[in-house]
Amino acid sequence: MPVDHDLLGDRRLRITALEPFGVAVHALDRGRPPTGLPVAPLRALVREHRLLLLRDFAAFAGPAELSAYAERWGEPAVWPFGTVLELVQQQDPADHIFDHTHMPMHWDGMYREHIPEFQIFQCVHAPGEDNGGETTFSDTAAVLADADPATRALWSRATGTYHRKMEYYDSTTVSPVVTAHPVHGTPVIRYNEPTAEAGDDFVNHPDLEFSGLADESELAELHRGLRAALYDPAHLYAHSWRTGDLVVTDNYTLLHGRNAFTSGAPRHLRRVQVLGDPPLTNPGLVR
Ligand SMILES: [Fe+2]
Repeated sequence: MPVDHDLLGDRRLRITALEPFGVAVHALDRGRPPTGLPVAPLRALVREHRLLLLRDFAAFAGPAELSAYAERWGEPAVWPFGTVLELVQQQDPADHIFDHTHMPMHWDGMYREHIPEFQIFQCVHAPGEDNGGETTFSDTAAVLADADPATRALWSRATGTYHRKMEYYDSTTVSPVVTAHPVHGTPVIRYNEPTAEAGDDFVNHPDLEFSGLADESELAELHRGLRAALYDPAHLYAHSWRTGDLVVTDNYTLLHGRNAFTSGAPRHLRRVQVLGDPPLTNPGLVR
């Protein structure tokens, strides 16, 4: 794959492709700090390959160090809790984000004033083998490129209206399912995958409505087709976390979610969102 010479010239790195998309940069002399890598070529890798894994680098000591690193990438999104979200299972979670259950596909920032361009995840502690908890990423540009014209036409007629209330927001967002990447205009999908009906163990369902389709059968076909395509192994990368992993993603192109994990498994991720330059005002936010 074409990789910037700043990185290729570094013999202490091994650069490999992930399947079906993404690129991994491994530190051969384990434990060197990721701060030693120039960010510009890494940023270019994320924009080209959608996802970058940095493996076998030294871990950041704490959230402040991760946040400082994220600032090299751009302006971190600031939340009521600061810049670093601690993704750890909680005892009695008020929201599914802090549970061990499946997280449906969505894009970050969909309910916020700005949509971040990048997500930076640090795996503080892996969930452990056979415990699940992979973060799932779907390449929506590839999904659209591979869709047949009739399917794509159906998706292109649909608009989602999403309402979600949780600790940090109470917002409504309206977005066409098929829209354009805000920088280069490549068609991408913005979609929050519906979850099973109330009564399951999914805490705090968002309200989702889809318009633009003729009838219930088209609506069912929309969700069936999107689910099949987003989770098709040709478009889905499920990241199995290893302690110390850093993953940087293109949130403008990908949708992401989470596979359920064993309750009580020691899964601990930290996440910082980095805004684009200039920051992308959320085009779908109604309130
Ligand atoms: Fe997310």
